[in-house]
Amino acid sequence: MEPGMLALLGRAISLMENLGFLWVVQTGFELDLWRELEERRSLEDLAALHPTWDKVLLDHWLEQAFCQELLTKDNLSYRVSKLGRAVQTYRSQGLEAMFQEFVHHWNPGFAKLPQLLSRQGKKLNFDPKMEEELISQASLASEPFVWPFLKHKCQKSKWQRVLDIGCGEGLYLNKLLESCPSLRGVGIELNPVVADRARKHTRSWGSRLEIVCEDALHAGEELGTFDACLLNNNIYFFSPEERKELLNNLKRLLKPAGEIGILSALRQNEPQFRRVFPTQVSRNLMSFFIACHEGFEGLPNEDEIRELLLATGCTNIEVTPLPFLVSHYFFARMPN
Ligand SMILES: C[S@@+](CC[C@H](N)C(=O)[O-])C[C@H]1O[C@@H](n2cnc3c(N)ncnc32)[C@H](O)[C@@H]1O
Repeated sequence: MEPGMLALLGRAISLMENLGFLWVVQTGFELDLWRELEERRSLEDLAALHPTWDKVLLDHWLEQAFCQELLTKDNLSYRVSKLGRAVQTYRSQGLEAMFQEFVHHWNPGFAKLPQLLSRQGKKLNFDPKMEEELISQASLASEPFVWPFLKHKCQKSKWQRVLDIGCGEGLYLNKLLESCPSLRGVGIELNPVVADRARKHTRSWGSRLEIVCEDALHAGEELGTFDACLLNNNIYFFSPEERKELLNNLKRLLKPAGEIGILSALRQNEPQFRRVFPTQVSRNLMSFFIACHEGFEGLPNEDEIRELLLATGCTNIEVTPLPFLVSHYFFARMPN
């Protein structure tokens, strides 16, 4: 066989395997099968639990989940494997939201790519489920990489007041206040449904923390001044012009020598030769998906963020790649 054909077949087979994983995991979430299979169960047991379900499809789902090493099999009964248990454990930490995005939004969005690219169709708009739920919840998945770095930064710089722009579910504010007892925080969140959830998640902090529902571009001096201002996983919501406006606005809210932190996945053009997982592919794909939407240009690259910080007059720019290069954290000092 011609080597090109062989390589193509290899890609097609691994694509089928990845699609199978996506559909099986997502179905398990929607039907709560990962929880039910924490206990050993056969096809017959599950069919008895769900007498109206299609038994042939259930049989195929079990078989596929076993092939994908999500279930173990002993005689006729199945149970979650280590991987299947991890799926259930991390479900509420961004995993379920991410898989819902892929199945319900990436698939139909990319199906329109020929029309979008040739300008025969209008760019997409994020639907309310994405804006009110999935975008902020999928973002939780990067916490294991981000938090150790952020915690170290906060303790080293001895922040006393932090402003979290586009705070989403309030995850980082919660963790910051928990680990630094004298810290106070303000979160700004544009989407009212997300802001309400952030308030709910952070209400135990009382007056130490406030969640304000507004556009960060309009953040005013009534919020007070801060030692650090964080823009985590949301710089791509702002156009290049808005980014300058936002950072110039934030200057007024930072104390002398205050810090600005920008956390973002980056778009990269150069292939990386040494990497553990091919994460650059998925990152550029995320940029591609974002760019399919009206008013969005995708993820920035490293130079764009550096230039933005320099144009705002920032100094001491540090760029830290997070493990597996899922994101980069930029920290800089604002001019006094
Ligand atoms: C991907 S989420 C990130 C949430 C959180 N920062 C995190 O890292 O987990 C981006 C959030 O930014 C919010 N956002 C987007 N544009 C905004 C704006 N102009 N002002 C305030 N929040 C905004 C979105 O509503 C969304 O909740």
